[in-house]
Amino acid sequence: MPEQSSVPERAVVKRVRTRHFQNAKDNGIVITGLTSYDQLTAQIFDEAGVDFLLVGDSAGNTVLGYETTVPVTVEELIPFARAVAGAAQRALVIADMPFGSYETSAEEALRTAVRFMKESRVHAVKLEGGVRSADKINRIVGAGIPVMAHIGFTPQSEHGLGGHIIQGRGDQLERLLDDARAVQDAGAFAVVLEMVPAEAARRVTDELRIPTIGVGAGPHVDGQLLVWTDFAGLSTGRVPKFVKQYADLRGALTNAVEQFRAEVADKTYPGPEHSYE
Ligand code: KIV
Repeated sequence: MPEQSSVPERAVVKRVRTRHFQNAKDNGIVITGLTSYDQLTAQIFDEAGVDFLLVGDSAGNTVLGYETTVPVTVEELIPFARAVAGAAQRALVIADMPFGSYETSAEEALRTAVRFMKESRVHAVKLEGGVRSADKINRIVGAGIPVMAHIGFTPQSEHGLGGHIIQGRGDQLERLLDDARAVQDAGAFAVVLEMVPAEAARRVTDELRIPTIGVGAGPHVDGQLLVWTDFAGLSTGRVPKFVKQYADLRGALTNAVEQFRAEVADKTYPGPEHSYE
């Protein structure tokens, strides 16, 4: 059993670094991550001890009103990343590289990563794809920028994959393992496994030296990541099976708004305590 149950808190670790990810895996300590797209949630999650904040292109679905992550641009994500990086004191902040900002060449990938580092001051970038993205990861890491990889279900390829389909089942396991080895060899400091069967995730986690971060990948991984609006019960529509809702923010906000409307209507708000003399 590990002596600690999480990456050391702020009194011990002032800023979570990529080396703490590796220490965590080596010592059986589980890493925790959430997405964040703004200053306020970044502060809350950071103060609560979340180890890393991902400024995900899931902002397309959660903030920008798109159906998929495909339309998200670098210009849209940089201000969110800047807000999160500015607010987080301890957590490692990672920016997602949007679809269309890295696929054509390793040079393009490096240019985009550099923009995120300079314009938003995040600490690392994330990009999707295994074998097909290895040359891009290698180029970015070679320039001194840490990269989190992302394999399994990769939302930017939703149309190519034929929808939200679990990856790595049956014959696909070998491909998942090839992707995992490729991103590790390319220099990624960690790899997200999205929507893969728990046993497949265990195989990848056992085989890799670098930590695996699961999103719908079961318990046999080195860390867990959730989209914050899903975990806090704010998202609309169908929430994936792997999401546990830890709060009902949608219900709480709806109640608050209904009460506000009623009190404005019956003139009990604002009362004297909310008015200036
Ligand atoms: O954009 C995002 O939030 C992600 C996670 C779901 C892994 O890529």
